[in-house]
Amino acid sequence: MKRTHSNLSAEDFTTSSIIRFGGLDDYIEEKMMVDYFIIEGNLGISRGVRMYLLNQIRRLKEVKQIKILDAGCAIGALTSLLVMQELARAGLLHKTKLILLDVSERVIHKTQMRNFQFPSNLVNSLLKFKIYEKLRHSKGLVASCEDIPLKDNSIDISLAGFLFQHLHDKTKKKAAEELQRVTKPGGFIGVAESWFEDHSDYLKIHEHDEIPLAHEAPISYRRLRQNFKNTEIFEANSPIRRGTENEHFYYFCGMKKAA
Ligand SMILES: C[S@@+](CC[C@H](N)C(=O)[O-])C[C@H]1O[C@@H](n2cnc3c(N)ncnc32)[C@H](O)[C@@H]1O
Repeated sequence: MKRTHSNLSAEDFTTSSIIRFGGLDDYIEEKMMVDYFIIEGNLGISRGVRMYLLNQIRRLKEVKQIKILDAGCAIGALTSLLVMQELARAGLLHKTKLILLDVSERVIHKTQMRNFQFPSNLVNSLLKFKIYEKLRHSKGLVASCEDIPLKDNSIDISLAGFLFQHLHDKTKKKAAEELQRVTKPGGFIGVAESWFEDHSDYLKIHEHDEIPLAHEAPISYRRLRQNFKNTEIFEANSPIRRGTENEHFYYFCGMKKAA
């Protein structure tokens, strides 16, 4: 049944991304082929983590466990894979605990079962089995990022790769608050997004989809950053103009401010 935008609830906008992304068997492969900006944004986050680890290495060597939260992980949790590679380089992977959060149970299940193609052109194959162990023992949370079932100040590294563009505008502020709430003061927060100034062409391609795109969802760098007032940004790109005139991606990385 074809529905018009006016019939859609906030829930429809949220779940549309499950159908579009959580439902794809070959999510990582598809990203490599058509969505290279997703790779670039995630590489931006992993560079931010590298800088953070350099700065925090002495403290982190002393802690018992480093907890990563990947909010909106999607199949294969690419953001986490790249970040775990950085933790391995810093000699910290063994004490890392991964938490995968997604509204789609299937996404989490496939990731924990390592049911995806390992992106060995991005992550060193020698790390594959150590990373697989982390995925196998990860904690899966089937939940929405607007209401994260974790304690305040409990996470060392919070990641949100290309998540906000799938949230209805009304829920973005709450999701940003939740990410900052669960992150420890001084902990790392990394966000990457794509943003189309004019996404009418993209909408046209998808106009006959059963559930239309959350077309109001893309958010500019400036507006999204405003929702991260408790985060001291130390690494970011300026929105990049790509092949087509209206296509952008951006990322920013910061530390949660002390209370
Ligand atoms: C584009 S994918 C993100 C992929 C991955 N983080 C990356 O950067 O490669 C968006 C993911 O967010 C999930 N998602 C959508 N709405 C969500 C919500 N409200 N809370 C948590 N996850 C959500 C979708 O199911 C999907 O797996």
